[in-house]
Amino acid sequence: MKDVYILAIESSCDETSASIIKNGNTDISTVINTQIATHKLYGGVVPEVASRLHLENITLVIDECLKKANMSMENIDAVAVTYGPGLLGSLLVGVEAAKTLSYIYNKPLIKVNHMMGHICANNINQKLEYPLVSLVVSGGHTDLIYMENESAFTYLGSTLDDAIGECFDKVARILSMPYPGGPNVEKLALEGKSTYPMPDLLKDDNYSFSFSGIKSHVNNLVHNANQRGEEINKADLACSFQNAVTNALVGKTKKAIEKYKVKNFAMCGGVAANSFIRNNLKEMCDSLDVKMYVPEKKYCTDNAAMIGAAAYILYKNNKFTDLSLNAKPNIQIDFNDFK
Ligand code: KG4
Ligand code: ZN
Repeated sequence: MKDVYILAIESSCDETSASIIKNGNTDISTVINTQIATHKLYGGVVPEVASRLHLENITLVIDECLKKANMSMENIDAVAVTYGPGLLGSLLVGVEAAKTLSYIYNKPLIKVNHMMGHICANNINQKLEYPLVSLVVSGGHTDLIYMENESAFTYLGSTLDDAIGECFDKVARILSMPYPGGPNVEKLALEGKSTYPMPDLLKDDNYSFSFSGIKSHVNNLVHNANQRGEEINKADLACSFQNAVTNALVGKTKKAIEKYKVKNFAMCGGVAANSFIRNNLKEMCDSLDVKMYVPEKKYCTDNAAMIGAAAYILYKNNKFTDLSLNAKPNIQIDFNDFK
């Protein structure tokens, strides 16, 4: 089969990104314009501001991506885009850009689920082996998924309330650290010890997660200490929090790996950039003789390369869409995309 070059676009949250991916595994060029500096001013992503910035940047990012690859649209085999889940206004900018390119240059259009993109980030520069259990940990999701092969999934469980990345961001805010909080909490936790008691996040015998309780617990600890005029050791608190959520991720993932008797585990999503969580999951996998896949850090947080990697699987299966494509802000991983 000849080489397949996919131009992928991602704009579901606060990163405007375009990427050219060869054969679903080789990153020819990726450009990411992050809006973090702007949203930091407000303590989190402001949807209206995000969509406006996507609009300002989308054509520049696509142009730069093609230039960096030294390619033109004529060399592209298909255009792929994230159509959900995400912020409606943000998604629409990417979807409209992709539809326009597909129409003008007469290229097949592929719609990609953002969460599928996160999982497929694991195919860049490596190759996932199946069957596997995948843990998607991002600002919007905490999902455990069983995959029999690259297009067959079973949802095992997800968060009943806050996503883990969202929880990291809120804890950072309680500890007066800027958005996005995850990397800051991780850094601070390195300086501390796990001394604060935390709720048991593993008490329910299922694959669901719940992080709103621990967030309130951290908030109450800080609030009560402030009222009593007591000093909080922020590093110890960050460390105790990170330990507790890591134990939950490791415990539930281990349970899924054992139940489904898989020998492969794939972690992904923005929170997969957290070295403490990665290391703990790796240790658990090693103890079970399970191979752990995790994307390079730059492919953990939102990027278009992962969308191109997922799109390649759809391309091979002739799963194209037409210009009636619309953004779908609230979808889960859509298994029908692959059927
Ligand atoms: O996947 P992503 O870029 O966007 C979504 O699809 O949500 O994930 C962003 C999330 C944010 O909540 C951010 O705080 C978190 O990933 N994150 C981290 C780390 N790096 C990013 N959380 C914990 N530790 C990190 N090192
Ligand atoms: Zn994401």
